[in-house]
Amino acid sequence: MSIRTNYEKWYEGEDYYWGLEPGDFLEELIRLCPPAEGCKVLDIGCGEGKDAVYMAQQGYDVTAFDLTENGIRKTRLLAGKRGVKINAYIDDINTFEVDGQYDIIYSTGTVQYLFDENKKGFFEKLEKITKPGGIVFINVFVEKSFLELPPDWDKEEKMWKSGELFTCFADWKMERIDEVIFEDNSCGIPHFHCMDTIICRKVK
Ligand SMILES: C[S@@+](CC[C@H](N)C(=O)[O-])C[C@H]1O[C@@H](n2cnc3c(N)ncnc32)[C@H](O)[C@@H]1O
Repeated sequence: MSIRTNYEKWYEGEDYYWGLEPGDFLEELIRLCPPAEGCKVLDIGCGEGKDAVYMAQQGYDVTAFDLTENGIRKTRLLAGKRGVKINAYIDDINTFEVDGQYDIIYSTGTVQYLFDENKKGFFEKLEKITKPGGIVFINVFVEKSFLELPPDWDKEEKMWKSGELFTCFADWKMERIDEVIFEDNSCGIPHFHCMDTIICRKVK
């Protein structure tokens, strides 16, 4: 089978590659947009679903997609184990289409899979599918001349420039922007990442 991302094989086993602890910023997101009745979340590149399922457990109506069959299989499995419903399916960040608008759009560690020619259209799409007052959370790996490319970098991933993500939301209200360098051991080889994060609100 020809696969586009190494995550397809890394997600094969029963263990959860990224663990089951929800992402660092989820509490902040929940505070900014609490789970009122019918509050809709879209998780773009949900992996094995740890964050999407956690959001469903908090009471959000969650839709989530990822390119990997194994990721979606395990997302559904986790939702079933935790007794929540979630709309999880295979799709591609480059070409996905959804109906309606969302209160929270969440994407962690996936936007670097956008092909250059799709970047502009992606942000126009986010603008359309975010409800007025809704929140977008995105983080993305960025290039630093003093850091080496991570050993588990996929062939379709492309480093963003430092600060580039923030310019894509110039007309939105910034709730948080930051850039951090952190150590990771995800493939058994210690390495460093630099990551830019934005949480912003669509004002109108
Ligand atoms: C760094 S992981 C993050 C996973 C998840 N968001 C998490 O934090 O646990 C990147 C994810 O992007 C997914 N991915 C790779 N290419 C993609 C694409 N073209 N469209 C959607 N997802 C993709 C991978 O399968 C992987 O699950």
